[in-house]
Amino acid sequence: MRVLVLGAGIIGLSCAEELLRRGHQVSVVDPAPGAGASYAAAGMLSPSSEVWHTDLDLLRLGLASLQLWPSYAAGLGVPMHRTGTLLAGFDGGDLQQVQRQVALLDTVGVSVDLLGGAAARRIEPTLSHRLTGAALLPDDHSVDPRAVVAALLSRVGGAQDVPDVGDHDVTVIATGARLPEPWSHLVRGVRGEILRAHTDDPPTRTIRGWVHGEPLYVVPRADGGVVIGATSEEHDADPVVTLGGVARLLEGARLLVPGLDRATFVEVCARDRPGTPDNLPLVGPAPGRSDVVLAAGFFRHGVLLAPLAARLVADHIETGHLDPALDPRRFDLAAGRVDADRLVHAPSGRDSTYRKDNA
Ligand code: GLY
Repeated sequence: MRVLVLGAGIIGLSCAEELLRRGHQVSVVDPAPGAGASYAAAGMLSPSSEVWHTDLDLLRLGLASLQLWPSYAAGLGVPMHRTGTLLAGFDGGDLQQVQRQVALLDTVGVSVDLLGGAAARRIEPTLSHRLTGAALLPDDHSVDPRAVVAALLSRVGGAQDVPDVGDHDVTVIATGARLPEPWSHLVRGVRGEILRAHTDDPPTRTIRGWVHGEPLYVVPRADGGVVIGATSEEHDADPVVTLGGVARLLEGARLLVPGLDRATFVEVCARDRPGTPDNLPLVGPAPGRSDVVLAAGFFRHGVLLAPLAARLVADHIETGHLDPALDPRRFDLAAGRVDADRLVHAPSGRDSTYRKDNA
């Protein structure tokens, strides 16, 4: 197949790389490769700490993609930071959040032990003495998304900055928080501000949790870098960095990991996460166009889900396979705008799913 991929963030590039490895002809178009949400992302591979009560489909996807990450990272020559994640509660109310999360994980078969503050500090001495408690998620790791994007870009041969609208069989749209019309309503921008710093005393593992009710994470890199994130704000303007956002992140991070006081400031940036109406990704045929595949709406989970997204998109293009929970047409279907009988998942994508004239 001749495939045009619009968008060279981690999702577009992982799809392009998978399709290339499967022998397809792939062109990638992006005026600023890797400069969107992938540039800001901390790179947590932590489905268990991201799960909320309404998001069990996300947990299923996240756990499946997490299984793929070790060989995926090895294949790209990018190291994973494999020291686990500590889910931390600073005050009593914050610990209740941790307890709720642990209880939820228990219902889906992920067993996690709760630790008191002192026990948590024994395994992570950089934590504050004021910490109330924590839970260790030993299988939830992290990766540097900028390193992943660079490795993927070198494999797909870079991205063109002039759209090639020449002949291709399928277009994959992976443009993050900004989808072209008529699909722009399927994603909304959820701004995240994120800080980068450097310290000679970083935490051993990702620390994720709540500080006086504010969600926060501190993700260490092997070289002493730390990523501190992230704010979350529904908005309809440019994703700018605000003083209030920076202040909240710094305050929470310094309370949780007091040694960060001595860290040197490196960078702050803001990007929009691509949220969808149900916060699940959009993977499959674009509503109204059978020759266009959406690989979008990965919200807070683009890095974690990238290897799985690549497989799902490539499988869909080759066989028509589709996960109904991710079908971009699900909102139209729920609203009665699409006839369910027409949502047949064709066994052969090449012949029946992607002919331009059946759009
Ligand atoms: N996945 C972390 C975030 O979106 O902030």
